[in-house]
Amino acid sequence: MRLLLASFLAVTFVACGDDEGGIQDAATDAEPDAPTDAGTDGPFVAPTMLSETGLYSNIGTKTIAAGVVEFEPRWHLWSDAAVKRRWIYLPPGSKIDTTDMDYWSFPTGTKVWKEFSRGGARIETRLLQKTGTADDVSSWFMVAFQWDAGETDATAVPGGVVDDIGVNDIPDRAKCRQCHGPNRNKSIILGLQALQMDYDAPSNGLDLDRLVQDDWLTVEPTAPTNGTYFPFLAETGTPLILPALGYMHSNCGGCHNPSSDVTMNTVPVQFRLGTAANQRSSWAVTPTYMTAVNVTATLAPAGSHVVLGGNTAQSAVHNRMNIVGAVQMPPIAREQLDTAGLAAVDAWINSLPPP
Ligand code: HEC
Ligand code: HEC
Repeated sequence: MRLLLASFLAVTFVACGDDEGGIQDAATDAEPDAPTDAGTDGPFVAPTMLSETGLYSNIGTKTIAAGVVEFEPRWHLWSDAAVKRRWIYLPPGSKIDTTDMDYWSFPTGTKVWKEFSRGGARIETRLLQKTGTADDVSSWFMVAFQWDAGETDATAVPGGVVDDIGVNDIPDRAKCRQCHGPNRNKSIILGLQALQMDYDAPSNGLDLDRLVQDDWLTVEPTAPTNGTYFPFLAETGTPLILPALGYMHSNCGGCHNPSSDVTMNTVPVQFRLGTAANQRSSWAVTPTYMTAVNVTATLAPAGSHVVLGGNTAQSAVHNRMNIVGAVQMPPIAREQLDTAGLAAVDAWINSLPPP
């Protein structure tokens, strides 16, 4: 294993040359992502305090403002065990353009927040705000706010904070774009999307059903069968397969999807599931099976294959999830193993017949 890993490291360093996403990112902090004209609300001014962003009507009492709705995606991104909450605000009367059901486009003025807590204390709250009309770098403002010790307010930290509390790193804005950038995922928003909301959210929370009923979508998906709009065919093994593929959809599919430069330029594997019926009619036709299962790895030898049926040791997916350091996946924003996520993926790999 050690030998394998050593030669793998050498290959990977040749292949990528930086440790933050493996390939050069077009977006840098020098680029203007705070445009001066944001339309109806007048010129956009980058907020310096969380209290200026409209999440709370009273930040002292933590009262969420009217029109701001909490949501939770079905499959979470692992963030070193941080507890997370998320909210969205759409300008009154606007809708999410769902013409492309797999990649929604949000209206100008959309704001989405994600709060991180550890040990019961708020650490940071992140903001994605659409200030322009396109889904490009200059139309989306991204920043994290670091909470003060008394949790009275949080201050924008565009340059990020390393190890602000234990393992928690607050990403700088360039890192936000390595996952949320238009070169990685053309929706920018990663959690509020068709497959991630297509479940029965607890306590009448926001889910695809409510997005349809409350008239948030320009194109509505067809009425559900058995409560699910985009069901995967029930097959033997589904209880074991769905958690693994869902985990990778959320944790890996943001970069490994057909609209991403990672997939187009570097490694063709895809982990993002699709809503189209012909990508759901069996597990074998999902993008994950088509591009990963028993497919030879491009950057061998992290394992001979991206996923080798019945063999985690030869599966790059297992090896890259099971390491913290240079070749880890995701390449950023993780400093601890996700043992539960790895167990789900391993159980699936072990259940697959060898080719
Ligand atoms: C490692 C990739 C990664 C990085 C880096 C990252 N995010 Fe995210 N983010 C995600 C994923 C995946 C989700 C959806 C899953 C979840 O919320 O658990 C998400 C969710 C969010 C959400 C909720 C809206 C949505 O997309 O569903 C906000 C807001 C957000 N991130 C803001 C930021 C900001 C601001 C930064 C930089 C300070 C940042 N993120 C850095 C991957 C990342
Ligand atoms: C922030 C973007 C990003 C995310 C998120 C991400 N990856 Fe990657 N992945 C890359 C890049 C860039 C490469 C190519 C360079 C390298 O190997 O570092 C890559 C390469 C790979 C490879 C090598 C494929 C081959 O054919 O050799 C595997 C396997 C892989 N990733 C698995 C995963 C898994 C599993 C996850 C989720 C747990 C994940 N990735 C999440 C960016 C990402």
